[in-house]
Amino acid sequence: MFSQVDMTTNHTYCASRREALLAAIPNNSVVVVSAAPEVIRSRDTDFPFRQDSDFYYLTHFPEPEALLLLQKDELGQCSQQLFCRDKDELAEVWHGRRFGHAQASQLFGIVATSFSGLDEALLQALNQKTYLYVAQGLYQALDEKLFAVLANLRAQPKKGYVAPTHLVDLRPVIAELRLFKDEFEVKLMQSAGLISAKAHQRAMLRCTSLQFEYQLEAEIRHEFAMQGARHCAYNTIVGAGENGCILHYTDNDAALKNGDLVLIDAGCELQGYAADITRTFPINGKFTAEQAAIYQLVLDAQLAACAQVKPGNTSKDTLDAAVAVLTLGLLELGILQGDFESLVAELACKKYFIHGLGHWLGLDVHDVGAYKIAGKERPFAPGMVLTIEPGLYIPKGSACDEKWWGIAVRIEDDLLVIKDGHLNLTDTAPKTISAIEALMAQGEKIAN
Ligand code: GLY
Ligand code: MN
Ligand code: MN
Repeated sequence: MFSQVDMTTNHTYCASRREALLAAIPNNSVVVVSAAPEVIRSRDTDFPFRQDSDFYYLTHFPEPEALLLLQKDELGQCSQQLFCRDKDELAEVWHGRRFGHAQASQLFGIVATSFSGLDEALLQALNQKTYLYVAQGLYQALDEKLFAVLANLRAQPKKGYVAPTHLVDLRPVIAELRLFKDEFEVKLMQSAGLISAKAHQRAMLRCTSLQFEYQLEAEIRHEFAMQGARHCAYNTIVGAGENGCILHYTDNDAALKNGDLVLIDAGCELQGYAADITRTFPINGKFTAEQAAIYQLVLDAQLAACAQVKPGNTSKDTLDAAVAVLTLGLLELGILQGDFESLVAELACKKYFIHGLGHWLGLDVHDVGAYKIAGKERPFAPGMVLTIEPGLYIPKGSACDEKWWGIAVRIEDDLLVIKDGHLNLTDTAPKTISAIEALMAQGEKIAN
């Protein structure tokens, strides 16, 4: 099992990230980052609390009703403050422990103060600053609080109050930092990848003895938890047969039918960090000839795209590689007809490969970070983590021989860009036809 890292012992990484953020903004700025609010699921029950990714990145502080306030004065001198809930015996008996500001200061390496003093602290911090950096429009309660403070400053010039003149979106500044993972993040993402790959192995092993998609989902969640990851990074997709053609299918309530493929897109969240893996395999453990042909084509495209993930290359290089393989393969199988060059030029394969090839990965499954700089594809660089996930989806009624209908295949891995190329963080989840069939045959033996 992955041993849980105590999130309070790694605050030095958060301190470096706050330093980097402060270095990236001009003098006479104030930065406000809010914890996520709790969200009601129904009546008086909440969804499991998930911390705001930017707030977590900068603090590791896990509670709601908290706020990070960073200041950089005219001379570039900086100060940092965390506001959090007070200890509260009664609330803690009902709802769970709270750090309180004294303990938070000790454990998170940043001066923590009671949330009750926040309004006055914001007034003082914003007064006479030029720039206010905040993710405006994200949390209504924060917007309201800040606009009240700004109104207060504007209303009382005789007191010497001056409101910031520039309201700047904080998100792109933090996004640029988050795009490049530090050593602590890389370790977590490697572990998240390994755990998620184990879960896919478990699903393959157990599949032949299961009846419904949601039972495969349960196997995935079981393995996540047994390996130390309590949460999924996103809602697990288990699409059997033609359900695999629905890209974000999460009903997961259909029967598993002998002879069909099943597509599972599932990744755990480990201390905030996401893995994102898709594997597709035959429910009965053996690919049919048609399933194998489409599967091998997607795998070849995935391998060709992965080979392009190295510093200096761009996502266009990965897409070009995948499109060339998919187009040629679809032509050879008779699913597309025409001239190879023209089909590539018009991206004809996108009829069956209907989504993007990948995305940044990190604290969010579709992680932050600009894909283009000044309108141009951004080159890969060490520390970036991205997915490569080609797929082919051939629903009933497609304009091809009906022997292909109902086949949906996606294969997705998570790649860390390193100096000499990339590391695949998720390749312990089997993906060759022979490896999948061998693992599933083992599973069948255990079941019988
Ligand atoms: N799991 C969502 C995606 O692959 O992008
Ligand atoms: Mn993905
Ligand atoms: Mn995915």
